[in-house]
Amino acid sequence: MKTTYLFPTYLSLLTLCLCLCPSGAATDEAESLIRWKSSLSSSASLKSWSVNNISNHCRWIGIRCNDEGFVSRIDLPVAGLAGTLDLFHFTALLNLTTFNLNGNYLYGSIPAALGNLTSLTLLDLSTNLFSGAIPPEIGRLTELRYLSFSKNHMVGEIPYQIGNLRKVCFLDLGSNYFKSPDWSRFPTFPFLTHLNLGWNEINSEFPHFITTCLNLTFLHLSLNTFTGQIPETLFTKLVKLEYLNLTSNSFQGPLSPNITNLSKLKDLHLGNNFFSGNILDTVSLIPSLQNLELYNNSFVGEIPTSIGLLTNLRTLDLRLNRFNSSIPRELGLLTNLQSLDLRRNRFNSSIPRELGLCNKLTYLDLSQNSLSGPLPPSFSNLGNISYLILTGNSLTGEILPRFFKSWRKLIALEILDNEFSGELPSEIGLLTNLDYLFLSYNSFSGSIPPEIGNLQKMRWLDLSINNFSGEIPRGVNRLNGSWKTMHCIP
Ligand SMILES: *[C@@H]1O[C@H](CO)[C@@H](O)[C@H](O)[C@H]1NC(C)=O
Ligand SMILES: *[C@@H]1O[C@H](CO)[C@@H](O)[C@H](O)[C@H]1NC(C)=O
Ligand SMILES: *[C@@H]1O[C@H](CO)[C@@H](O)[C@H](O)[C@H]1NC(C)=O
Ligand SMILES: *[C@@H]1O[C@H](CO)[C@@H](O)[C@H](O)[C@H]1NC(C)=O
Ligand SMILES: *[C@@H]1O[C@H](CO)[C@@H](O)[C@H](O)[C@H]1NC(C)=O
Ligand SMILES: *[C@@H]1O[C@H](CO)[C@@H](O)[C@H](O)[C@H]1NC(C)=O
Ligand SMILES: *[C@@H]1O[C@H](CO)[C@@H](O)[C@H](O)[C@H]1NC(C)=O
Ligand SMILES: *[C@@H]1O[C@H](CO)[C@@H](O)[C@H](O)[C@H]1NC(C)=O
Ligand SMILES: *[C@@H]1O[C@H](CO)[C@@H](O)[C@H](O)[C@H]1NC(C)=O
Ligand SMILES: *[C@@H]1O[C@H](CO)[C@@H](O)[C@H](O)[C@H]1NC(C)=O
Ligand SMILES: *[C@@H]1O[C@H](CO)[C@@H](O)[C@H](O)[C@H]1NC(C)=O
Ligand SMILES: *[C@@H]1O[C@H](CO)[C@@H](O)[C@H](O)[C@H]1NC(C)=O
Repeated sequence: MKTTYLFPTYLSLLTLCLCLCPSGAATDEAESLIRWKSSLSSSASLKSWSVNNISNHCRWIGIRCNDEGFVSRIDLPVAGLAGTLDLFHFTALLNLTTFNLNGNYLYGSIPAALGNLTSLTLLDLSTNLFSGAIPPEIGRLTELRYLSFSKNHMVGEIPYQIGNLRKVCFLDLGSNYFKSPDWSRFPTFPFLTHLNLGWNEINSEFPHFITTCLNLTFLHLSLNTFTGQIPETLFTKLVKLEYLNLTSNSFQGPLSPNITNLSKLKDLHLGNNFFSGNILDTVSLIPSLQNLELYNNSFVGEIPTSIGLLTNLRTLDLRLNRFNSSIPRELGLLTNLQSLDLRRNRFNSSIPRELGLCNKLTYLDLSQNSLSGPLPPSFSNLGNISYLILTGNSLTGEILPRFFKSWRKLIALEILDNEFSGELPSEIGLLTNLDYLFLSYNSFSGSIPPEIGNLQKMRWLDLSINNFSGEIPRGVNRLNGSWKTMHCIP
């Protein structure tokens, strides 16, 4: 292979150089870099790193030196590097403050000698193929402000020695296979603003130390097996939080009214947990909220009418709970809403006409509830709607021609298993983006509009179990494949 072939050549050049060149720390540094380069199986981006160019090493690609002429920065994100750090000569580069290899193809374990780089302020080894554990020697890097091992294949307990890194403000260990350490050995991190432990194998209760990091604005713990309740101090102390993602864990308990103390929160993601109880008015007192996801928990009762105060909301996802109230008309005040998902609850009202005021909606899913009554005529305001999913309710009345005149961006219309009736307006031919049309198990009647046959993007069509009469129009017959298998025949 290329590596093993080149390697001896470099070594002999190095030996030659070591004998002939004046020795000095700077040349040691340059040589140690070349030695590491020669161990890599892919390093095409490092052309300037050459034995003929040693005197220039402070200007090599990705290298910068400090005023004393020592290498202080190695900045090689997304540089196509493949290989290991085994031959990286840490002790030759003790002035390094920045070590950034984000987004390469580096593998193997992280050498303990990394702990020698005690001047490091930034260490970014994210998005590589590293395996093995974080060496406890990491605890010697007490100047670190930015530390990321995210998106690797690393394992083991998170070493408590990370607790020595008292200056760290960005800590990202996400997307690895890390396990829970003894969190009680973790102290507070006064400067920490960004903490990501998401997508690991952590199965503890909520780590206490987190609630003492009072500067946190971003906290991501999703896709682990955290259990127990969220400590009240998260709400009452971490008042700078803007982003909180606890999705896909095993947290439980009710949502505390103290959550209102998080007055800067924009993102609250609590889906796929075991939270229960009512959602209280207090949620509505966080007017900064933009994305609220509570899906797949055991919330019950009503959506408080105060929800209408959340006028910055873009996403509201309450699907897969046990809400059993009416759908509050105050949702119509959420005019920035783009996605509303209330599917699989027990909402039992009609659809409030005010919902038609949310004209930025692109996704609306009210399926699998107990909704009744007609689609409000105001739905013709939903000019941005792409996905309208109402399957599995008791909705009645007709689909008005004005709907099809304005729903020009519609991609999917899924209203099966309701009690819709009347004729299907020929304006359906205007829905040129339509991909899915599922109308079965209703009481539509009259003839199937031949205009359906003009819908070039249509791939899925199901008109079965209705009361259509007459022939299947020739154009509809053109639709190949799927429509037939979906029992389209009236
Ligand atoms: C030496 O390094 C400098 C700075 O990166 C670069 O511009 C130059 O092309 C290199 N020369 C050789 C022979 O590689
Ligand atoms: C690092 O820098 C200090 C001075 O800032 C210097 O004394 C020391 O020799 C340098 N070490 C290396 C390995 O470059
Ligand atoms: C570098 O790190 C290794 C492994 O932790 C250690 O044995 C060695 O003493 C360190 N060298 C220096 C100069 O700090
Ligand atoms: C938050 O960080 C600032 C510096 O960014 C620091 O001065 C302050 O002490 C920290 N606050 C707390 C409560 O740790
Ligand atoms: C929250 O975490 C889940 C699970 O990791 C992820 O799919 C989702 O994109 C996150 N939400 C946001 C807004 O980052
Ligand atoms: C809200 O937080 C306070 C502390 O600030 C605490 O005393 C109270 O019990 C919390 N409320 C609930 C419902 O837990
Ligand atoms: C925190 O929330 C509680 C409601 O549970 C409220 O009584 C209290 O005033 C809030 N504290 C602050 C500082 O907003
Ligand atoms: C709901 O959450 C539970 C627990 O996290 C999970 O096992 C289940 O697959 C989720 N259900 C859906 C439909 O996503
Ligand atoms: C909703 O469910 C709760 C608990 O099951 C019940 O006490 C309440 O009466 C229900 N409310 C409505 C409007 O059906
Ligand atoms: C919704 O359910 C409640 C409680 O079961 C009931 O009183 C109410 O009449 C229902 N509303 C509709 C529109 O079915
Ligand atoms: C679609 O949404 C945009 C904002 O995203 C809004 O300005 C526009 O009025 C909406 N279109 C319609 C037809 O309502
Ligand atoms: C179906 O249509 C026929 C005539 O077109 C009508 O007599 C019948 O009542 C309709 N059935 C339903 C369930 O709408």
